[in-house]
Amino acid sequence: MATINAKITAVGGYVPDYILTNAELETMVDTNDEWITTRTGIKERRILKGEGKGVSDMAVPVIQQLLEKSNSQPEEIDLVIFSTATPDYLFPASACIAAKKTNLVNAFGFDLLAACSSFLYALSTGAKYIQSGMYKKVIVIGADKMSSIIDYTDRATCIIFGDGAGGVLLEPTQDRTGLIDEWHRVDGVGEEFLLMPAGGSKHPASLETINARQHFAKQDGKNVFKYAVTNMANATLKVMERNGLTGDSLDWLVPHQANKRIIDYTAEQANLSKEKVMLNIQKYGNTTSATIPLCLWDYEKQLKKGDNLVLTAFGGGFTWGASYVKWAYDPN
Ligand code: UT7
Repeated sequence: MATINAKITAVGGYVPDYILTNAELETMVDTNDEWITTRTGIKERRILKGEGKGVSDMAVPVIQQLLEKSNSQPEEIDLVIFSTATPDYLFPASACIAAKKTNLVNAFGFDLLAACSSFLYALSTGAKYIQSGMYKKVIVIGADKMSSIIDYTDRATCIIFGDGAGGVLLEPTQDRTGLIDEWHRVDGVGEEFLLMPAGGSKHPASLETINARQHFAKQDGKNVFKYAVTNMANATLKVMERNGLTGDSLDWLVPHQANKRIIDYTAEQANLSKEKVMLNIQKYGNTTSATIPLCLWDYEKQLKKGDNLVLTAFGGGFTWGASYVKWAYDPN
């Protein structure tokens, strides 16, 4: 029997309307546009405004786009994997809420948390259900409302993050397209460098944790940068090397958008020209689980069937890795 691959057949994205510019951040913390631009490459980020709006509200239009673009009915969806570090609630899972709002009445689903690498891990998981022959239509969402856990008095952290959502539909194919290979890792080294200290089972919410501002993401940027830059480049090179990809034969690098300097270093190590690197950090900042699908969404019209893409990420945990995807369709 021919091998079943999981190919991406549609891409969706959503960013909120509100634009938080570097100029506005200058009025909030002691920072400036020049510092933010040269250290990170970020000019602006989107923020989800509105009382009671959660991450699932950004995923809903993404799921609707995926259904529409692929001519699928909601009841045909078998599985929805919702990767996020900022779910609507600790439980129930945002996958349940998004499925209800979009009428995915025959789907099962769950949330997946691996910080900034979440989308790659969810893609890997979703692909396995397709490759096994078990399911025919799997939605993989990457979405985060980072503004809900950002301390807008902490200038080292608040300038980086933004809100957004993206996603893909996976379907079976017997072509050699779709997810071809992957290399992923976790370790516990990152625990002290990037975390939200309270609100979990170790330090449940209390007056003390609130007063100590422990319900915000804390990052030791310098240390995270050091690990991110080497690990993202190494994962990319590993996947390129074992699939015989070079700077010439690789068509696109799709890197997690945390800092332009990390992206530039990875591209340089992979011997890739600037035009082959997807970049949207300047307009969205770091949207955590959403960066990679939002890149695919922004660049979809430039992708051609057969293009070789390497998707790579690094995030809290630490978590990191790279996936090799052969693009499955031409632009409409
Ligand atoms: O998404 C997954 C994981 N996250 C990442 O991959 C992010 C990795 N880290 C980074 O991107 C960078 O470390 C940051 C952008 C967070 C910080 O950049 P940096 O070049 O590492 O700056 P730094 O923390 O070493 O700080 C350098 C200086 C310090 O001043 P002194 O001590 O040299 O006087 C900071 O206080 O810059 C100062 N600084 C700022 N100045 C103006 C820190 N934040 C700001 C700011 N505006 N927003």
